[in-house]
Amino acid sequence: MPASDDLFNLIPEPIHYEDARGRILAANPAWLEAFGYEAADVVGQPATKYLLVSSGTSVSAAVLLEAPQSLIPSDEEGERFTVLCHGGNHKPVLRRCIIEGDRRLVILRDLMAEIHRSRLTAQQERLASVGMLAAGIAHEINNPIGFISSMLNTIERYSKRIGEMLSGYRALDSVESIDDLGAKLDKLDGQWQAQNIEFAISSIPDLLSRCKEGASRVKHIVDDLRSFARNDDDIDALISVNDVIESSLNIGWNEIKYKAEVEKELGVTPEIHGNKGRLVSVFVNLFVNAAQAIPEKGTITIRTETSGRWVKTTVTDTGCGIAPEHRAKIFDPFFTTKPVGIGTGLGLNLVYNILQQHGGEITVESEVGKGTTFVIKLPIRGATTVHAPESLAPSPELLE
Ligand SMILES: Nc1ncnc2c1ncn2[C@@H]1O[C@H](COP(=O)(O)OP(=O)(O)OP(=O)(O)O)[C@@H](O)[C@H]1O
Ligand SMILES: [Mg+2]
Repeated sequence: MPASDDLFNLIPEPIHYEDARGRILAANPAWLEAFGYEAADVVGQPATKYLLVSSGTSVSAAVLLEAPQSLIPSDEEGERFTVLCHGGNHKPVLRRCIIEGDRRLVILRDLMAEIHRSRLTAQQERLASVGMLAAGIAHEINNPIGFISSMLNTIERYSKRIGEMLSGYRALDSVESIDDLGAKLDKLDGQWQAQNIEFAISSIPDLLSRCKEGASRVKHIVDDLRSFARNDDDIDALISVNDVIESSLNIGWNEIKYKAEVEKELGVTPEIHGNKGRLVSVFVNLFVNAAQAIPEKGTITIRTETSGRWVKTTVTDTGCGIAPEHRAKIFDPFFTTKPVGIGTGLGLNLVYNILQQHGGEITVESEVGKGTTFVIKLPIRGATTVHAPESLAPSPELLE
């Protein structure tokens, strides 16, 4: 039996011991649970009864006995099998073994569980980023909708007053005498002054144009959101990094605007291949982190340029900086120095994973008390179109 029964029983991966002839001596609870057997069913049985090659045919004991005896297989393909589960289902596993005297310890990594776990992680990451974007977008849309609705209320009040004045003037048609006309005109004059009609008339065009501005801001945000949702699995679309930065600023603006002046130095860069929504998520996370690192008021400088075979983006903030002992951990999932409710610690991990998917790189330099610079490099793969930024100054809708 194993050196430590407890350890054998506690390990969450399916493990069994085999004798020199490949008969199962013991299987741990994770093994029995994963493949649906009772210990009594399997102990004493040849491992080849359960381990099949992927096509579903049996494996000869010799194949198993000759398999590489390392816990870290150098050739994973060579050790993939399927396990015949109780009830007839098949489960893909990665078989690894080590010899212990006259018996061998066999680990059968449940690849289905692994695939399931990695799908869950990807889904959680996506939910975290969608949640953050949704919160940012809700704020951003709420703002213009709030002022559109308050301006529409004012316009409604003003037009009611103007309408009443016009009805008053219209009623002058039916005056019976000059005296009556004079009295009514005086009354209307008083009403004109009291109701500030001059001001109401002159204000309406301005109020309407601000409503239109607010509506176009909402449209802009919705367009950005659409581009985030669209082609989500398309990792190979042609994308301008400068556009990605503009969209990310729009989405994260609510978090940024109270903390930082944004200085953009967007260069002429070739388009890259990638997924716009995911890259927007990268930059929203970086910009929001930069804003959150700024205690009161500071600057975020965003620079894009072509550097060899890369489009290089530099995001520099004048925030609190990252303590040297935290530097190595910031890309780890759930590492956060922020209070509960503000940080989940998933932002930079998501950034890192998305950049990996794009063949990109990210590096960081930081000085406590001075600020932080993230450098993001995305590969140019046979890109053709050179994309110039729309403007070098912050776009007007960001200067609200
Ligand atoms: N620009 C920055 N300046 C200073 N510290 C930073 C900066 N960016 C990241 N960090 C540090 O890295 C940590 C991890 O960042 P990350 O974005 O992964 O998580 P978070 O911002 O704490 O939470 P969230 O999941 O909401 O993004 C932060 O808590 C912070 O300590
Ligand atoms: Mg963050």
